Amino acid sequence: MQIFLDSTDTKVIADLASTGLVDGVTTNPTLIAKSGRPMLEVIAEICDLVPGPISAEVAATTADAMIAEGKKLAAIAPNVVVKIPLTRDGLIACAAFADEEIKTNVTLCFSATQALLAAKVGATYISPFIGRLDDYGFDGMDLIRDIRAIYDNYGYETEILAASVRHAAHVKEAAIIGADVVTIPPAVFAELYKHPLTDKGLEQFLKDWASTGQSIL
Ligand code: E4P
Repeated sequence: MQIFLDSTDTKVIADLASTGLVDGVTTNPTLIAKSGRPMLEVIAEICDLVPGPISAEVAATTADAMIAEGKKLAAIAPNVVVKIPLTRDGLIACAAFADEEIKTNVTLCFSATQALLAAKVGATYISPFIGRLDDYGFDGMDLIRDIRAIYDNYGYETEILAASVRHAAHVKEAAIIGADVVTIPPAVFAELYKHPLTDKGLEQFLKDWASTGQSIL
């Protein structure tokens, strides 16, 4: 499973990328607004920091304008993935990008039929939003399960990018179901490796080691 960071904070991205565990980055208009910086500049910087796929989202709502914006975003760097909302116009734009071999991430997916259409128009990634479905009393993980089954039934190559992740359990469940990618907020990254029993065990090992008076080097 690939791990993407859902962030526009370039300092945090640089720090976490240094672990070698970050395969890509996703952004959205809300995260760009939070950065307080010009979008094209932030995306270019992220593309330099992480060589993997970097999603940059269009702001237009008509297919023609999405295509124009997407081409401008794709020209920033070879690893840009054009992020498009899952609307009728978004699907039309996605098909146009597929024809030109421009990679796409179809976002704001909340149903399996939406995901089916995204695959039919050749989306590179589909982004089902788990946390936002959970917030509304649904089980976001059911959507990941349904999409996995549909894509496997027909051999669609569109990759399932589990988004709107709130905690490590979401990552675990998405991995068990077989999502191809998970995009996580930086705060969830630490949750993936931290465990209180690891900390407790290490503390004891270090104490016992110190009592031996030995040194390995
Ligand atoms: C994914 O591409 C989105 O940017 C993101 O995961 C949305 O997450 P949120 O529901 O926490 O805003």
